[in-house]
Amino acid sequence: MKKEVVNLTINDTPYELLVEPQVTLNELLREQLDLTGTKISCAAGECGACTVLIDGKPMLSCCTLAATVKGKNITTIEGLAKNGELHPLQKAFVEHGAIQCGFCSPGMILTAKALLDENPNPTREEVKSYLAGNLCRCTGYVKIIDAVLAAASQMNKGGK
Ligand code: FES
Ligand code: FES
Repeated sequence: MKKEVVNLTINDTPYELLVEPQVTLNELLREQLDLTGTKISCAAGECGACTVLIDGKPMLSCCTLAATVKGKNITTIEGLAKNGELHPLQKAFVEHGAIQCGFCSPGMILTAKALLDENPNPTREEVKSYLAGNLCRCTGYVKIIDAVLAAASQMNKGGK
């Protein structure tokens, strides 16, 4: 199949890539660019493990064709730490035991980041509802919600 040129920015780095039209964003990230922090699980839009941010909004990379994100800004979990410092959400997930097997964590953390960018001071219910599309088999969700609220409070105090 004829490859298309796709220009996009991933974690602040511009790329010009040749991709086949049927290639998903998930395949592009994981297989072509080796950015394996983005997970693949159901590959059917059901679990949220493959979530990345596209222009700041959480999107399922398993259901997004790479050719449709020309000109977009993509953030993957690899892009959250800055200068060797974890993002407050990453720190809070570690500190609150919100990561067990870790398979849901990249998608969960990126979805939580989009929430806090939109709403820096969410209620517990708002966190729960925003994260509803991200499934976790391990934690029972309470620690994840605690971690997001703790990160929000830390970020509102100006913490990094
Ligand atoms: Fe994309 Fe499950 S892997 S939603
Ligand atoms: Fe294992 Fe969430 S920590 S699926």
